[in-house]
Amino acid sequence: MNIIRSRMGLKLFASYFLVIAIGMGAIWVATRFTSPRAYQRHLFFMEQNAGAGGAGMMGQGQGNGQGNGQGNSMMSQFYQDYQASFNESLIVAVAAATLVAMLASMIISRSIVAPIRSMTNASERIAEGRYDERVALRGSDELSHLAKSFNQMAEQLEQVENMRRQLIGDVAHELRTPLTAIKGSAEGLMDGVLPASDETYQQIHNEAERLSRLVDDLQELSRVESRAVLLDIRAVDSTAVIGTVVKRLQHQFDAKRVTLTANMPAAPVSFLADEGRAVQILTNLVGNALQHTPENGTVTVSVARDKNEARFSVRDTGEGVEAEHLARIFDRFYRVDKSRSRARGGSGIGLTIAKHLVESQGGKIWAESAGKNMGSVFSFTLPVG
Ligand SMILES: Nc1ncnc2c1ncn2[C@@H]1O[C@H](COP(=O)(O)OP(=O)(O)OP(=O)(O)O)[C@@H](O)[C@H]1O
Ligand SMILES: [Mg+2]
Repeated sequence: MNIIRSRMGLKLFASYFLVIAIGMGAIWVATRFTSPRAYQRHLFFMEQNAGAGGAGMMGQGQGNGQGNGQGNSMMSQFYQDYQASFNESLIVAVAAATLVAMLASMIISRSIVAPIRSMTNASERIAEGRYDERVALRGSDELSHLAKSFNQMAEQLEQVENMRRQLIGDVAHELRTPLTAIKGSAEGLMDGVLPASDETYQQIHNEAERLSRLVDDLQELSRVESRAVLLDIRAVDSTAVIGTVVKRLQHQFDAKRVTLTANMPAAPVSFLADEGRAVQILTNLVGNALQHTPENGTVTVSVARDKNEARFSVRDTGEGVEAEHLARIFDRFYRVDKSRSRARGGSGIGLTIAKHLVESQGGKIWAESAGKNMGSVFSFTLPVG
């Protein structure tokens, strides 16, 4: 029984079989009741006819001596009556069987079609934007598997919709901060409250700069999230990548008096990646490390081969990340200290972009930290080439 319940094909087979059995049963019952009566009626008529016609024939027979002819006609009359009674009971039985079978098919097909109909209704409601719609799960056949997948799809759509809403809210919020600052400074200038000094203009320029960086980051984020970034994957030398990043950021480290060291292995590790994107990921991590490491701290970049992967690590002696934030810092717009990070121009997108770039090149990225002010290590892997 359970096997039948879990297989749609068997269920259909069983339902056809059931309808046929019900039909046969109906024929049997109907013939049992109608056949004897029809038979009796026809025999009764035959007897009457035989009584009446027989007397006439008797007279004739005596005169002509044709007793044989009378016997033949009685047999054919008997056969005709038998056939008529059989046909009569068959018509009633078939009519009853058709009716019962129709009823049974209707009930069975309804029970099969019901979940499909409820899925159709649910999908129409989802198309109208009601993403909380789910279908009830019944049984364990293919249809119930379909209903389960349908519910999973609806849940994912709901999540995407929530993320979309959240993203729009976050973007609006991120844009509002620099815009408010620019508007405030412009109004201050117009009202004469703010002096028309270089400093004021510089402030407005900085905010506009932040806005344009945010828009660029958002554009980049949407590109990496939709996997629309064209990657030119080829064998890349780790020494070259680390060298480029160090050269690019060295003067910022010098300015903040933070030491930047590169731990190069004796034999350079070659890995498969888009060189420009690898430099971007590492720049992002080293840039973050600089942001979160106070004066006299150290940031160390290293690379090592680990089985089939090249593993890059950026270790700093700075602020560290508390465990509760570790899992979330790769989420978009997530910053441990929102106001401080924003004041430094951070919008919380850098690590999200880095994560997408690493994963689209077949690698992993993660962060470790012993806690607040204990420094942190950001690592990522890329396949060796
Ligand atoms: N090396 C680090 N040490 C401590 N905290 C870090 C470190 N790197 C990142 N974080 C935390 O993770 C958060 C997210 O980093 P992410 O790079 O995504 O954003 P951001 O640097 O604030 O802004 P941006 O989008 O400009 O990079 C940071 O705001 C910070 O709180
Ligand atoms: Mg960053």
